[in-house]
Amino acid sequence: MSAPGRPEGECRSAQHEGTPVSATAAEASLGARAAAVPATVVPATPSQPRFAALPPLALYVHVPWCLKKCPYCDFNSHELTGDPQADVYVAALLADLEFALPSIWGRKVVSVFIGGGTPSVFPAAAIDALLAGIRARVPLLPDAEVTLEANPGTFERAKFAGFRAAGVNRLSLGIQSFDAAQLAALGRVHDGDEARRAADAALAIFGNVNFDLMYALPRQTVAAARADLAAALAFGPPHLSFYRLTLEPNTLFHRHPPPLPDDDTAADIEDAVEESLAAAGYGHYETSAHARPGRECRHNLNYWQFGDYLGIGAGAHSKLSFPDRIRRELRHKQPRRYLAQVAAGAPLQESFAVSRDDVGFEFMLNALRLHAGVPAALFAERTGYPLASIARELAAATARGLLDPDPAMLRPTPLGRRFLNDLQTLFLRERTPAGAAADGGGR
Ligand SMILES: C[S@@+](CC[C@H](N)C(=O)[O-])C[C@H]1O[C@@H](n2cnc3c(N)ncnc32)[C@H](O)[C@@H]1O
Ligand code: SF4
Repeated sequence: MSAPGRPEGECRSAQHEGTPVSATAAEASLGARAAAVPATVVPATPSQPRFAALPPLALYVHVPWCLKKCPYCDFNSHELTGDPQADVYVAALLADLEFALPSIWGRKVVSVFIGGGTPSVFPAAAIDALLAGIRARVPLLPDAEVTLEANPGTFERAKFAGFRAAGVNRLSLGIQSFDAAQLAALGRVHDGDEARRAADAALAIFGNVNFDLMYALPRQTVAAARADLAAALAFGPPHLSFYRLTLEPNTLFHRHPPPLPDDDTAADIEDAVEESLAAAGYGHYETSAHARPGRECRHNLNYWQFGDYLGIGAGAHSKLSFPDRIRRELRHKQPRRYLAQVAAGAPLQESFAVSRDDVGFEFMLNALRLHAGVPAALFAERTGYPLASIARELAAATARGLLDPDPAMLRPTPLGRRFLNDLQTLFLRERTPAGAAADGGGR
């Protein structure tokens, strides 16, 4: 699943949603940033962005099939009813990429993320054809990170070795839990033993591996969550993503909610997880992501640093910068419709320019997920507008103690990390007619 601000890949929000921000002592004194950019002297914002250089470009590829639909999942994923016809879909992906080439002409691709759904339902030969086709069409950097999402229920050693031989150099494994009872409660196709076998093989074959784990699972206690994490840490994966199980609309769990731990227990689990991971040498670099030094996911970092990405495949989102605008695109979501639309030479369902009023929020929605924040100069570099265009919002966030007053950085404070939603929402603006922008593609 992907949406503006909730990018593809391993990124999912684990913030304390809906928790109100209370007034703090920090509100009493404006920080250095607020003092440096007085809210009353905001220069007029140009009507169009201007880019000196375009951001790094990543490629996302969506594969919308899974062995079985999980009861909690709202991703654009569909249960397979027969042969996935991988060759037909790969041909469509490459045709889709060709359609997109004029939008990315001459630009190098820094990373590839093949996500889903469950791309590991495809045979290794299909992933090989896909990556060969991508390389033939776009200049992929020689050291590009190439990630593939896999489900332990699709694990076969020879298949994993085939993905590696095809050029996948990072595997993201949807473990969710090592606990057999939890896996059954989550309706997963794999059990604890399969999870362990897949984890072993992934580490032996790829080295660079992420485990997706979820917490606040049905009836989960802090002790059980600790034990689950210990089981994961025993493998020493370079990267761990931790997502709080959320009840998403249009899922079975939303209609029939399982007995989930309350917010206090979930917060205690978060604290326990954080403590164990820090002790084991992992850096908590993003809301849901933990990595050993140097093993941060480069593809996802590019989203959070408001880099560009082209998304191909059913329902994939793109964000592409041009010298005078930023464009977002959405491809047709339903797989059969997508295939038909690609055949007709029209894969896009939506295409629109990001408005001046939205871009500050979109940048902060991503950048503030990073615990270290981003250099303040990145705002102008990646949005094409001066930082002063969000001076009022920055001053308000700093005054509330949610944003670090260091003027050289855009960095959430510990309070801002805890109430990330509230911090991000401060950058949300009413749209003005002058701020809205059309791009010819319709909306
Ligand atoms: C595309 S799936 C990963 C690969 C593969 N499809 C699998 O599930 O094994 C992305 C990840 O999102 C997380 N996820 C999906 N639905 C979620 C939900 N409702 N709440 C929290 N995390 C969720 C899971 O950890 C899942 O591994
Ligand atoms: S296998 Fe992954 S993408 Fe597919 S339904 Fe389950 S969580 Fe969603």
